[in-house]
Amino acid sequence: MKVTAIGTGYVGLVTGACLAEMGNHVMCLDVNPDKIAVLNAGEIPIHEPGLLEVVRRNVAAGRLQFTTDVDQAVQHGTILFIGVGTPPDEDGSADLQYVLAAARSIGQRMTDYKVIVDKSTVPVGTADKVRAAIAEELARRGADVAYAVVSNPEFLKEGAAVEDFMRPDRIIVGSDDEQATLMMRALYAPFNRNNDRLMVMDVRSAEFTKYAANAMLATRISFMNELALLAEKLGADIELVRRGIGSDPRIGYQFLYAGAGYGGSCFPKDVKALVRTGHENGQDLLVLAAVEAANERQKRVLSDKVTARFGQDLAGRHFALWGLAFKPNTDDMREAPSLVIIDELLRRGATLSAYDPVASQEAQRLLAGRQGIVFVDRAEAALPGADALLIVTEWKEFRTPDFDTIKAQLKNPLIFDGRNLYEPALMKGLGIEYHGIGRAAAV
Ligand SMILES: NC(=O)c1ccc[n+]([C@@H]2O[C@H](COP(=O)([O-])OP(=O)(O)OC[C@H]3O[C@@H](n4cnc5c(N)ncnc54)[C@H](O)[C@@H]3O)[C@@H](O)[C@H]2O)c1
Repeated sequence: MKVTAIGTGYVGLVTGACLAEMGNHVMCLDVNPDKIAVLNAGEIPIHEPGLLEVVRRNVAAGRLQFTTDVDQAVQHGTILFIGVGTPPDEDGSADLQYVLAAARSIGQRMTDYKVIVDKSTVPVGTADKVRAAIAEELARRGADVAYAVVSNPEFLKEGAAVEDFMRPDRIIVGSDDEQATLMMRALYAPFNRNNDRLMVMDVRSAEFTKYAANAMLATRISFMNELALLAEKLGADIELVRRGIGSDPRIGYQFLYAGAGYGGSCFPKDVKALVRTGHENGQDLLVLAAVEAANERQKRVLSDKVTARFGQDLAGRHFALWGLAFKPNTDDMREAPSLVIIDELLRRGATLSAYDPVASQEAQRLLAGRQGIVFVDRAEAALPGADALLIVTEWKEFRTPDFDTIKAQLKNPLIFDGRNLYEPALMKGLGIEYHGIGRAAAV
C-alpha cells in the first residue's frame, strides 16, 4: 500500500518505518526541514532503540522516503496518517492547530480517494473537525473527492516504540466507513498474524480509549506515589506493599512503582486534556484532577528530601544527578521530573553535575543559559566532591553501580534515590545514608 505519515516525531517516524518494514511504500512528511535533513542524511532525530536500523533498511530498499514537500506527500499515500503533536493549550485542553493544519493541507491538494487516519492523541470529536476541515478546503476549490476519516490511536511506549508497534497488544480502529475499515485491516494484517488484535469501534470510542488508557496508567502511578508518602510516615516499605498488592491478579504488578513523579509527552498532557474535556462537558473528573495534583506534588519530593537534610539554603552545596530523561531508553525530556528537581536545587543556590546516557544534549538545549549545572559524559564523572547523589531516571546502568567508587568520590556517602533502585538494608550495610521513596531511610 502507499502510505504517507505526516509528522516524523516519535509516533509518525515509528509508524512510517514499521509500515515500510512490512512492504508498504511510505513517504514521511515533516514541516521541520532540520528533521528531514537528518533523516535524509541516514540518521534519526530521536533516540529510540532499534529504529535507526529499520529506517536505514527500508530507505535502502526504496520503501521509505522523507520530504518537506506537502504536494508530493499528499499525492503519494492512499492512507495518510496524521501523527503531529497535540501539546497542551493554556487551559490544558489539547491544542489541535497542528492536526487541523495537516488536515487542511490534505484537503487543499487531494485528487483521489484518501483514508485520513488520526494517529495523534486527540480529544473525542476531533475526527469530525478533521472531516470538516477537509470538506471546507475541498469546497473552496470546488473539488468533489471521496475520503474517510478514521481514528487509530497509538499505544507505543517511547524506549520500546519499535517493539510495541511491531507486536501491539491491540490495534484500535475507530471507523464508520466500511471501505476504510477494510483498508485498515489489510494494512495491519501483517502485525496481527497469530491472533487478531484489531478492534473496530465507533470513532468517538476509539478517541476516548486512548485517553482512558493513559489516564488509568497515570492513576496507578499517582496512587502509589501518594501511598508512598504515607508509608514513610507509618514506617512501612512501599516496595513490599507493591509486591503484596501486585500479586493479586485483579491488580497486577505493572505501573505500581513509586518514584519522583511521571513525566513525558503523554501522561501529563493527556490527563490535563481529559480533565478539561470533562469540565467542558459539565462532568468534573475528580479522580483525574487529583492524579494530576498528586503528580505535581511528587515531582518535588526528591528536592524536598534534599532540603530536609541540608536546609532550605543550598548555597555552597554540590550534587551529582544521575538521569535526566523522563524515563529510561529515551532522550525525551518533555515534562521530565528532572527539570523540576534541577530548577529547585539551582534556585536554592546549589550547583549540579548531571549525567544521562542519551538525554544530556536535549537537557542542555532546554537549560541553555542556566548557571550552576554542568553535564558530564560518564556516571562516575558526576560524583567527585558532591554532597550527595540523586537518582532521577531508572537507567539500567544505575542498577548495580560500584558503591565503593560512589563512597570514595562523594563528599558524603549519601544517596537520594527517586526510583527505589537499591535496598535500604544493603545501603546501611555499605555505610551509605540512603533516602528512597516510600521506604524508611537508611541512616
Ligand atoms: N511520544 C509518544 O510516546 C506517543 C505515544 C502515543 C501517542 N502519542 C501522540 O502522538 C502525537 C505525536 O506525538 P510525538 O511524540 O510523535 O510528537 P513530536 O513532537 O515528537 O512530533 C511531531 C512532529 O510533527 C511535525 N509537524 C507538526 N505539524 C506538521 C504538519 N502540519 N505537517 C507535517 N509535520 C508536522 C513536527 O515538526 C514534529 O516533527 C501526539 O498527539 C502524542 O500525544 C505520542
